Amino acid sequence: MVDIFKEYVDNFNLDDERILQKYNHSLRVMSLSEKYANILGFSKEDIYLAKVIGLLHDFGRFEQFKRYDSYSDINIDHAKLGAKLLFKDNYIEKFNIDKKYYSLIEKVILNHNILELPNITDEKESRLSKLLRDVDKIDIMYSLGVLNELSFFTGDNSNISEVIINHIKNYERVGKKEMKTTNDHAAIKFGFIYDINYKECLKEFFDYLTSYYNLLKDKEKFKILLDYNMKYMKERGI
Ligand SMILES: [Fe+2]
Repeated sequence: MVDIFKEYVDNFNLDDERILQKYNHSLRVMSLSEKYANILGFSKEDIYLAKVIGLLHDFGRFEQFKRYDSYSDINIDHAKLGAKLLFKDNYIEKFNIDKKYYSLIEKVILNHNILELPNITDEKESRLSKLLRDVDKIDIMYSLGVLNELSFFTGDNSNISEVIINHIKNYERVGKKEMKTTNDHAAIKFGFIYDINYKECLKEFFDYLTSYYNLLKDKEKFKILLDYNMKYMKERGI
């Protein structure tokens, strides 16, 4: 499966590190999906589906970057683009996946980048959507905190907007629209933790968040946010 994915990504410029980063992110999200699907006791079928979805969740990123030279979803929603390429343009057929899973895979991919997951009545879709969102966030935090990719996210000496601090204090995720300063961009990462569904995923996420905190240029300003996150972790029994 990975070789077919690599064949697709070879159509894009892998010498550009931003393309390479998304390729590596896809592979890591696949293995994190397998790891946590096992930890959570998913069935064999669900572990397989979690891996497939992990690998393909950002399928739209490559075409998005080619068209817009940017990963901003303001230009085009990368989840919708990925779903279109896979299921309307039929790239999915190359992957030898049973057709009965197509609609489920499509739904989980479409659920992965919306701000809040709605109530999903289908248990399988709900379980796989929650897992993908959790491991995607673990790996985003790993890229930021450990690999130090996207180093412009380490902030500057600007203030963190009061409204953002309040959201994080109240255990609320922050929407991108509320960001005003450079440090707001860094601060919203401390809201991600409230969107981690499975308790089992919290520790690894928080380890990378702590590494990220240590990379921040003006980290004193962020200490209060880290403290709110620690309080939250305790309340969830971690
Ligand atoms: Fe994504």
